[in-house]
Amino acid sequence: MLNEMMHRPVVMPELVEYMRTAQAGFPGGVGEIEKFANDNGIPIIPHETAKFIDLFCATIEPRYILEIGTAIGFSASLMAQHLQTEGHLTTIDRYPKMYERAQENFKRLGIEDRVTLLEGDAADILPTLKGSYDLIFMDSAKAKYIDFYPECMRLLRVGGVLIIDDVFQGGTILDDEKDRPKRVRKIHRKLNLLLDTVLNDPDHRSCLVPLGDGLVMVRKEKE
Ligand SMILES: C[S@@+](CC[C@H](N)C(=O)[O-])C[C@H]1O[C@@H](n2cnc3c(N)ncnc32)[C@H](O)[C@@H]1O
Repeated sequence: MLNEMMHRPVVMPELVEYMRTAQAGFPGGVGEIEKFANDNGIPIIPHETAKFIDLFCATIEPRYILEIGTAIGFSASLMAQHLQTEGHLTTIDRYPKMYERAQENFKRLGIEDRVTLLEGDAADILPTLKGSYDLIFMDSAKAKYIDFYPECMRLLRVGGVLIIDDVFQGGTILDDEKDRPKRVRKIHRKLNLLLDTVLNDPDHRSCLVPLGDGLVMVRKEKE
């Protein structure tokens, strides 16, 4: 399966190349998972996004992390390296071919006690979860982000941060919906709705970050 957005970066190609080569790879098992995924076309966050998340986690020192969209466990393993004592990461995926490999990777890295993989659709699982998380990383079906957003904000602690991946769709979110192919109009509409909702939400602080296919970050400012 190809992550086509990895090949549709939103900044100059030369800079993308630079961000992917000049920034060192990750040591040990995390680096091995990243390489395996990239060699096999498994969709994971691009290297520049991973470097940002690595630095961000080192800075905020999260104790409780939630991820929506595990794939084979690359971003989960990366974030889990930063868990504080007693910390825990919960990650959700609905696709057995992906999460079975993720589970093997968590074992191989010796982090299976610190990571809980919930198998199923996030639409069913999110309402069953209780807060509160320091960091939520949402990297799943893009058309569902707008439905998952209120659940994520419910589950974050005040001061916690939600990072949502792939919000620019290679820049096409700026196009008129009628100019987009019919098969992508729903994603187009729902991502625009998500961005309007997040960026105009007076209750929380947000920021767009043009890494990979675009991130939007939201800091929960109040209950
Ligand atoms: C881009 S991949 C995640 C990559 C991963 N975050 C990484 O960087 O290592 C997206 C994953 O989300 C999962 N997914 C998509 N929609 C989902 C949903 N509604 N519930 C649970 N998992 C979902 C897919 O099965 C896929 O494995």
